[in-house]
Amino acid sequence: MASKHTQILKKDYPWVTSPLIASAPMRLIATPTLAIEVSLAGGLGFLGVGTDITKFSPWLNEASSILQSSPILNASEDVLPIGVGFICWGVDLPTALSIFSSAPQKPAAAWLFAPKDSKDLVSWTEGIRQTTDGNTKIWIQVGTVAMALDIVKSCKPDVLVIQGADAGGHGLAQSSSIISLLPECADALATEGFGNIPLIGAGGIMDGRGVAAALTLGASGACMGTRFLATPEAVISQGYKNAVVEARDGGVATARTTVYDKIRGTIGWPESYNARGVLNQSFWDNDKGMSDEENERLYEEEIKKGDAGWGDQGRMTTYAGTGVGLIQKIQPAGGIVREVLKDAKERLAATRGLFKGSNVGS
Ligand SMILES: Cc1cc2nc3c(=O)[nH]c(=O)nc-3n(C[C@H](O)[C@H](O)[C@H](O)COP(=O)(O)O)c2cc1C
Repeated sequence: MASKHTQILKKDYPWVTSPLIASAPMRLIATPTLAIEVSLAGGLGFLGVGTDITKFSPWLNEASSILQSSPILNASEDVLPIGVGFICWGVDLPTALSIFSSAPQKPAAAWLFAPKDSKDLVSWTEGIRQTTDGNTKIWIQVGTVAMALDIVKSCKPDVLVIQGADAGGHGLAQSSSIISLLPECADALATEGFGNIPLIGAGGIMDGRGVAAALTLGASGACMGTRFLATPEAVISQGYKNAVVEARDGGVATARTTVYDKIRGTIGWPESYNARGVLNQSFWDNDKGMSDEENERLYEEEIKKGDAGWGDQGRMTTYAGTGVGLIQKIQPAGGIVREVLKDAKERLAATRGLFKGSNVGS
């Protein structure tokens, strides 16, 4: 099945080097610069429109103009070699569809996440497929086995992103790490006759070792969010990037919580979601019983400190996953894709040697 999935991905995203490495559509952080660098390096970069639909059209125009003379664009003139991600609960579908419709070049993939009701994804999937003549493939991010089964039956997406609990940013408050989630999803989907849909692992993957593991667990590719925060291309402050590089031991340094949404006044996420971020003074003060109003006031004060407001002694929100401890430096996004691909290949090749000379499987 793995090679069948690879063939599907190769057909739909011909510029991509196998295994597929995607950069997550991090809301307002993943702009054309990041998405394009990832795709130019042989991955698939996603724009993080999130809930801000006003960015969609200008970013598509910007990406089209940057990619005009690119060999990966010329391979398919109707399709932009990047994807676009929506946080569905916060976007008006007809507005999104009208932008898809008027775009001269359609994004290669639309990444759908966090609808108010999972049934809404049917209208999203059908609407985008019709409006783009199927040129834009449908990726849906899910976080449980039940959700994966429900979505494949109702939407038949082109790709399912399996998001585990280690993931940075928003995700289901209750899910498991991809070490068990990916194989259980792969088995359940195969049993129900949906084994032909490629799976992409997300959550805690930071390097070639993580990619190799995800492939072994049943994925055909990997998505990274947190790792791409530590890039020149990510649109976040230097303080945020420094906090990501400095954090260690992510199981302790980060937690899933709603505190950061509360103090920043982010409302609208369905109740089953929270977000993983690096622990800081806002988190600990909340833990000690500080009122939301006071915590919010201190957060507003902290903004004035600029880059110094980040880090464990600061109060600025640093959404990031448990893998932060593996990030050592800020590095160009294209370099990360190339390095991770090379490392994954070497790791997988090395594991073959483990069984040499043993009678396992004989
Ligand atoms: C800062 C940040 C912002 C994110 N924003 C979004 C988003 O807007 N839409 C979305 O579908 N996923 C978002 N995610 C989650 C990613 O899609 C993905 O599941 C996650 O980054 C994978 O785990 P990792 O961070 O350990 O690589 C975000 C992740 C991070 C770290």
